Amino acid sequence: MSEQSPASTPSSSSGVPAPKRVRVHHLTQWKERSEPITMLTAYDAVTGRIFDEAGIDMLLVGDSIGNTMLGFSGTIPVTVDEMIPAVRAVASAAHRAMVVADLPFGSYEASPEQAFATSVRMVKEGGAQAVKLEGGERVAPHVRLLSSSGVPVVGHLGFTPQSVNMLGGTRVQGRGDQAAERLVNDAVALQEAGAVAVVLEMVPAPVAARATEVLHIPTIGIGAGAECDGQVLVWTDMAGMTAWAPRFARKFGDVGAALYTATRAYAEAVREKTFPGPEHTFTE
Ligand code: KIV
Repeated sequence: MSEQSPASTPSSSSGVPAPKRVRVHHLTQWKERSEPITMLTAYDAVTGRIFDEAGIDMLLVGDSIGNTMLGFSGTIPVTVDEMIPAVRAVASAAHRAMVVADLPFGSYEASPEQAFATSVRMVKEGGAQAVKLEGGERVAPHVRLLSSSGVPVVGHLGFTPQSVNMLGGTRVQGRGDQAAERLVNDAVALQEAGAVAVVLEMVPAPVAARATEVLHIPTIGIGAGAECDGQVLVWTDMAGMTAWAPRFARKFGDVGAALYTATRAYAEAVREKTFPGPEHTFTE
């Protein structure tokens, strides 16, 4: 892990000094300069600190906490009360990255006012600097109210896991001319409502590229090809914590295997009485 202070962690490929704290204006600056934006999920202070020190620009406290950490089969059961401690933990650990809190299913769809009330909790109790919500034109009024009230919003289009039951399962979205046009129009509607970025999940690369070209706010892809302005992955997929990962995720490490090996070594040392040693023992 880097010994550098978070503020000096390089994230810029253009040589422009990295910001002390990532703010919304940096996102559009990076898009203008074609500097890829890095985003990763985080759900606790331990990983939040590591990812922040490693120079990740945006930490998403995703509702994927449901399937990655809480043992649910998906994101739908996740509640605001389960999200808040995770948001607070990540926000307390991140000194440079922008912390984005996902609004879980059922906590924002009913009205802009409901979205506002939930976002206020994410910002005031959790310490988030932005929120993310799923949907296009339909949630534009929600995005408008949040943005005009001072809450930066990241949109989420394409495969939106909270709508898995409507979408007929986990599948690529935006295929075909009509669907592609609808997706780009949704992205524009979010931008016009004040969104600061849009996540595109499981979208054909040419459609994501078109949205990226049309928008002046950044697109952050996950399974949406290389033309997006940034990329996001679920950290457990990125680090190799699970036996299975989606096709669009690359395993950049084998952290699960390393953790297993360390755990076996610890258990063996305890059983063989080689731990604790004198150096771990208080004699008075
Ligand atoms: O909750 C999450 O992890 C997400 C990402 C897949 C973008 O929404």
